Amino acid sequence: MVQLTLPKNSRMTTGKTWPKPEGASNLRKVQIYRWNPDDGKNPSLDTYFVDLDSCGPMVLDVLIKIKSEIDPTLTFRRSCREGICGSCAMNIDGINTLACIYGMDEIAGDIKIYPLPHMPVVKDLIPDLTHFYAQHASVMPWLETKTNRPAKEWKQSVDDRKKLDGLYECVMCACCSTSCPSYWWNGDRYLGPAALLHAYRWIIDSRDEATGERLDDLEDPFKLYRCHTIMNCAKTCPKGLNPAAAIAHVKKMMIERTV
Ligand code: SF4
Ligand code: SF4
Ligand code: FES
Repeated sequence: MVQLTLPKNSRMTTGKTWPKPEGASNLRKVQIYRWNPDDGKNPSLDTYFVDLDSCGPMVLDVLIKIKSEIDPTLTFRRSCREGICGSCAMNIDGINTLACIYGMDEIAGDIKIYPLPHMPVVKDLIPDLTHFYAQHASVMPWLETKTNRPAKEWKQSVDDRKKLDGLYECVMCACCSTSCPSYWWNGDRYLGPAALLHAYRWIIDSRDEATGERLDDLEDPFKLYRCHTIMNCAKTCPKGLNPAAAIAHVKKMMIERTV
């Protein structure tokens, strides 16, 4: 899958080419989107050469090596380095994914790395996710109850707990929403696959007591119904989740409650 949509603040220029390291035996060319809001210049694609024989196996290892040994100004987010925090999401070789779990051996030839597509950029590979997080908060991603709090815990059967599999694992990386054409064009009003997956996760939680309100809130021409089942979201999710299926379940529940 190749996503050609660039970040929102892109008028690309040819960037700097850094020298090849001496004595390297296994060189790989890596081109990285650079943009600094403070220097007044247009974004550029800088070129680096990395010796893979002296580097870890993942794309994040390459970025860390470039920052440590070649160009300390390169800016990107990362934390857990094991696919849990969701912070290293970026577009690698045309695919939205997590740099820390994407192996260099999965990419043939030169590599191009951009921030997640069609989002405003804070700097270099860091997208501005303020709106994305606000949309997530808008679906009330927490247990909402009306009955009295139980003395010990809210109980759930094994079967009901199983219904959350394939949903609770989401790490909010935004790879899905930023791969969704509907979200590119209507992201101001369409909630996008990540927020909708979370909405469904709470709608089907047997302990939650706000199902009606949750569905009422999604009954909107834009929030839910801008999903056209294009399936980019499921294809790109680095955790193997299927937001499109979650959205389809919500749409089905909308129909069922009217008949
Ligand atoms: S299935 Fe829906 S949410 Fe997923 S990419 Fe397509 S339009 Fe977007
Ligand atoms: S559904 Fe997948 S791609 Fe989307 S935010 Fe969650 S983990 Fe990331
Ligand atoms: S660094 Fe946490 S998911 Fe990649």
